[in-house]
Amino acid sequence: MHYPAHGANAESLYQMLGLKVPETIIDLSENVNPAGVPQSVRQAWTSMIDAVSHYPNEQAEPFRSQAAQFHQVIPEQVIAGNGAAECLMVLACYFSGKTVGLVEPSFSEYRRTLLQEKVQVEQILVDDICTYRFSTEKLKKQMAKLDALYLCNPNNPTGVLTSKLQIEELLEYGRKVECAIVVDEAFMDWTDEVESVIPLVSKYENLIVLRSMTKMYALAGIRLGYIISQRAQQFAGLFPHWNVSGVAIQLGCLCLQEHLYTEDARQHSAKMRRDITEFLQEYRCEVSNSSANFLLFKLPAIYHPDFFFAYLLKRGVVLRHTKNYTGLDGKWFRVALKRPEQMNIFKQVLKEYVQNN
Ligand SMILES: Cc1ncc(COP(=O)(O)O)c(C=O)c1O
Repeated sequence: MHYPAHGANAESLYQMLGLKVPETIIDLSENVNPAGVPQSVRQAWTSMIDAVSHYPNEQAEPFRSQAAQFHQVIPEQVIAGNGAAECLMVLACYFSGKTVGLVEPSFSEYRRTLLQEKVQVEQILVDDICTYRFSTEKLKKQMAKLDALYLCNPNNPTGVLTSKLQIEELLEYGRKVECAIVVDEAFMDWTDEVESVIPLVSKYENLIVLRSMTKMYALAGIRLGYIISQRAQQFAGLFPHWNVSGVAIQLGCLCLQEHLYTEDARQHSAKMRRDITEFLQEYRCEVSNSSANFLLFKLPAIYHPDFFFAYLLKRGVVLRHTKNYTGLDGKWFRVALKRPEQMNIFKQVLKEYVQNN
């Protein structure tokens, strides 16, 4: 049986599994903000038409400078991409022919993009899934043999946050053994940003931070992400010219002003996280200690994960399977924290499954 490599696009999942698409679908497989785009984006939308006829600024200005100001770094340390996904492809090109370690389970695109560029990939499994705990000492031993280490923080698919302190220890060691550290902060804007390593960019030349505008601002269809690093200009030649559209540039600038919107989204997801964690624990599930807008869970062993997944799909509830996450092998499910009424349906269907099986 084939499963799609990513969440979202639920219809293709139904098609691949040969299932009829129900009339209503609740897609909890993608992690985009359920609030939709900020009001300012809706208001500005029609005036964006002028940007359509012109080539955009090659450096994605003024978005690049505004992102730099937002994170208090200099614009030369920022380079924008057509989504963080494009930045990952560029980083894979940059590390072509080298050896890169992945702290896993993690976002499947790291492995795919790196292998495509003939990078040797070393898997480093965490010691515990729910806490995403790993030993710094063990990691350091591996780093001595690596050109780079990828770490997703908060981690996709667990949502667990690794402390800035622990990453700084790795950066310090990486500096000695010439190992770069790529920290993917695509979901950091769902936290209070205290553990973001962006303030360390000016101190560590070997630090490469990745950010995405997709999840928090519901801009998944627009494609906008960026890298922050002292090495940013070394990546410039690896991106296509005009890779960020004029519309993305303008929307990105508007979204960076949306402080109340982000605060509301964080509060909502924190509330949902507590509620869904409690609910799943009542049903004896293992639940990850997430700080993001999704969490990972595993049903008690008596339930077959494939039957559970299919049962929910038939009732229109789409979870993110974990068949292509190293170390999870389809036994866990990632669930996005969406609107209360959608989460209530998820709870209802899970309850029904447990009662009937
Ligand atoms: C951890 C992580 N990094 C990067 C990306 C890519 O994000 P973007 O939509 O900005 O390309 C994703 C998308 O799901 C992700 O989960």
